[in-house]
Amino acid sequence: MSLPPLPSAIKYPEIKYTQIFINNEWVNSESGKTFPTINPTNGKKICDVQEGDKADVDKAVAAAKKAFEFGSEWRSMDASQRAVLLNKLADLIERDRIYLASLETLDNGKPYKDAFYLDMCATLSYLRYYAGWADKIQGKTIPVDGTSFCYTIHEPVGVCAQIIPWNFPCSLVALKIGPALACGNTVIIKPAEQTPLTALYIASLVKEAGIPPGVVNIVPGYGPTAGAALSAHPDVNKVAFTGSTDVGRLIMEAAAKSNLKRVTLELGGKSPFVVFKDANLDEAVESAHQALFFNMGQVCVAASRTYVHEDIYDEFVKRSVERAKSKLIGDPYDPKNEYGPQVSKEQFDKVLELIESGKNEGATLECGGNRHGTEGYFIQPTVFTNVTENMRIGKEEIFGPVQQLIKFKTMDEVVERANNTSYGLASACFTKDIDTALEFSSRIQAGSVWVNGYNLSSCQAPFGGFKMSGIGREGGEYGLQHYTEVKTVVIKTPQKL
Ligand code: NAI
Ligand code: MG
Repeated sequence: MSLPPLPSAIKYPEIKYTQIFINNEWVNSESGKTFPTINPTNGKKICDVQEGDKADVDKAVAAAKKAFEFGSEWRSMDASQRAVLLNKLADLIERDRIYLASLETLDNGKPYKDAFYLDMCATLSYLRYYAGWADKIQGKTIPVDGTSFCYTIHEPVGVCAQIIPWNFPCSLVALKIGPALACGNTVIIKPAEQTPLTALYIASLVKEAGIPPGVVNIVPGYGPTAGAALSAHPDVNKVAFTGSTDVGRLIMEAAAKSNLKRVTLELGGKSPFVVFKDANLDEAVESAHQALFFNMGQVCVAASRTYVHEDIYDEFVKRSVERAKSKLIGDPYDPKNEYGPQVSKEQFDKVLELIESGKNEGATLECGGNRHGTEGYFIQPTVFTNVTENMRIGKEEIFGPVQQLIKFKTMDEVVERANNTSYGLASACFTKDIDTALEFSSRIQAGSVWVNGYNLSSCQAPFGGFKMSGIGREGGEYGLQHYTEVKTVVIKTPQKL
């Protein structure tokens, strides 16, 4: 598919919104506090943003609850009109696509080229896909015993908290609000403290699209304060979270201790990418490279264990190292660069510390291993060989540009090693043999299996994790299930109908 020409970025986009968005109004934090958001390309502050905490969360939840009341504008709206509003929001995002992509690059550091083509494309397709579902969410009539007429309705769950990370700040807003609004819920979004700006700009478009007040509220702030207040709130009926497994646990705990709110979690991974000996080597090397280095390795499905059959291992290593060394790093607004900084100083330090552990635990550093340049949070694309699963880099989620190349001999061996992890998000195999592909896909414990490609996700297909990679599915029709409650209505009738 050929892409439209890349329009020039707005290199330092004007920052228009830095307040809390409640009831379609901009307000300051109750505490008067703000927090800085940083440009990871140079480590400098972009601007201060109002810092939401429990008192602001209480206000946002009250607004969302009111907007959801029986008889409200939102509850009374035709489902087809919800689709119109979601489509309108998508159209406004498309109108402002250059600005939003430029803003994402400023706040997150990802290449503008990726922000414009990939993040904005995903944002638009999630909204439009779920808009299409709004008036197609149907119950059943059920032939129950006796003289009764029984039907089910799929009602919205109510007030939904949606807690979002910093790696795909804009498209994850769309993936979260798309199904929630299609089903008729109201939401409070808490963007990540590292990247609040695109979510706040989208809030202005929510208002412009004509979505009623209180339906979408956005509270920027920190996790242990604003995030925790949302997951513990007794008037929040559901929480959807994307982020670390540790925080996923805290959210489930808070849900259990407060009101047993519904919980969906999309968490970490240590996804295996398995290259069998009959694979197309050129394609497998490039795909394994992209599978790990895309978004500077800051992807929940990052393929951070690449298993390569022993017969092709040496050649695979040689080509992978050449590819990593060829990567153009630098100013993410420059379209020739494939690669920008890590999102924050914390992530930069975490990844460099894991690289050190790899060296100390006996893995072989083939290239990279240090920071790139002298300012900002850039890390050289790094490749390790002779990695084993008991090393930290073979076991822990790195969330950075660090590729582990691991040798294997047989299907039994590689499946056992690939599954020997507490995670189960994604996986891939490269082979020309259909039997090998089918055996691998049935034996691997992961929510997604990609064959001869990687990250083949799309808005129509479900996505989520086995084991400690999460609970529930997002995307596709499956993604609607968590945003409705099934109500069973039984009407006694004089005779069998
Ligand atoms: P995190 O899980 O702390 O942050 C994600 C979101 O959760 C943010 O909005 C944050 O404010 C919020 N949060 C934090 N503590 C919370 C709490 N107690 N209650 C409610 N919400 C809370 O992730 P962080 O610290 O930014 O990154 C740490 C590691 O997590 C990364 O190195 C990576 O391994 C993993 N991660 C995974 C992501 C994924 O896509 N699955 C995305 C981001 C991080
Ligand atoms: Mg930032």
